[in-house]
Amino acid sequence: MKVLVIGSGAREHALAWKLSQSPHVTKIYAAPGSQGMAGIAEPVNIKVDAHNELVAFARENKIDLTVVGPEDPLVAGIVDLFQRKHLRIYGPTAKAARLEGSKAFAKDVMSRHGIQTGGHKVYDKAAPALEYLANCDYPVVIKADGLAAGKGVFICRTQEEAEAAVAEAMVEKRFGDAGRKVLIEDFLQGEEVSVHAISDGHNILPLCLAQDHKPVGDGDTGENTGGMGTYSPLPQITDAQNSVLERDVVVQTIHAMNREGEPYKGTLFVGCMMTKQGPKVLEYNVRFGDPETQSIMMRMKGDLFEVLNATIDGKLDTVEVDWDPRSVVTVVLASGGYPRDYEKGYKIKGLDSGFGPDVQVFHAGTKKVDGDWYTNGGRVLSVCALGSDLKDARAKAYAAVDKIHFDKMIYRKDIGFRGLKG
Ligand code: GLY
Repeated sequence: MKVLVIGSGAREHALAWKLSQSPHVTKIYAAPGSQGMAGIAEPVNIKVDAHNELVAFARENKIDLTVVGPEDPLVAGIVDLFQRKHLRIYGPTAKAARLEGSKAFAKDVMSRHGIQTGGHKVYDKAAPALEYLANCDYPVVIKADGLAAGKGVFICRTQEEAEAAVAEAMVEKRFGDAGRKVLIEDFLQGEEVSVHAISDGHNILPLCLAQDHKPVGDGDTGENTGGMGTYSPLPQITDAQNSVLERDVVVQTIHAMNREGEPYKGTLFVGCMMTKQGPKVLEYNVRFGDPETQSIMMRMKGDLFEVLNATIDGKLDTVEVDWDPRSVVTVVLASGGYPRDYEKGYKIKGLDSGFGPDVQVFHAGTKKVDGDWYTNGGRVLSVCALGSDLKDARAKAYAAVDKIHFDKMIYRKDIGFRGLKG
């Protein structure tokens, strides 16, 4: 079977790596892919938003399954288009993808179906938002309504910070149209977890829990990024809490989308806050998380191709997945300055080091020139390691990180710190 993976990041590299282990898969293409994936997926020079070109490629090359990595093509309706052309594609329709495409829509769905989330207000003009901010309690969370690559979220401890966030989104338009509306949300106390599940609209396959580290700096300091590292499993989350997450968040959401008349087929990734009152939804994502996927694929025992294929056919109940009981830690190596301005083109050393069988390095922003690797993006590499427990996985991941170097390289040195507490 031939597979086309859409996207070019470390998440897509990890998906392609896992798909390549399936005995059903004979060939993987990635559009646009990257040179870092070249050993497993042939890069195809088509951008993720060139939907008609992707359709033509899938047709001409007799692709059996297309897997979409990032959210933008899903929200823009790539699944609907492929379906209209009778091509097999994995992911939600544009209408279902509004769960991520509009945070205001997601809040409406939650409120209509009794799914627990924080209180919020939506504004499409700066003046009333600023008026609210002059009288509210702090901290608050300010979010751009639309897609902003994980960067349109501000935790504001003072009125001054909140006003700056509103100005950035609505006046300076840092996130373009995505900041046309902003949400001002209650700040929820607790620990955030990344809950992933796959659904065919009726059956649900929960994936292993992971935890991301969104702020750029150690100890959760600095600006929010797309994610600086993950680990799995989470020793601090009990089986009982995990069951509540599945029942009250995942199952409820899939049922809610059915009642909305928009059955949800694909990966549902819910950012949840574990509050004293139980889990509350922070946000929905309609695709695999990055860098959560890198950790999840490292632990997944089962055939990803069979899972995605069965999802399309509404037969998810016919496949089984197991999880490696070991722990995994993923550390993101990024370019200094990320998530804002950063420079590219620094030589990456050490990628040819022997990392051992429990380590995988997935490429995000890299480029190969004359046999040498160079930085070519904000998030550059994901370094993943399996270990007997979280401490061991973390030691192995950082030992691998120590072998890699590029100028202005930044990474968090505390991935997994919450799981190691206590
Ligand atoms: N790691 C967060 C995300 O993928 O949105």
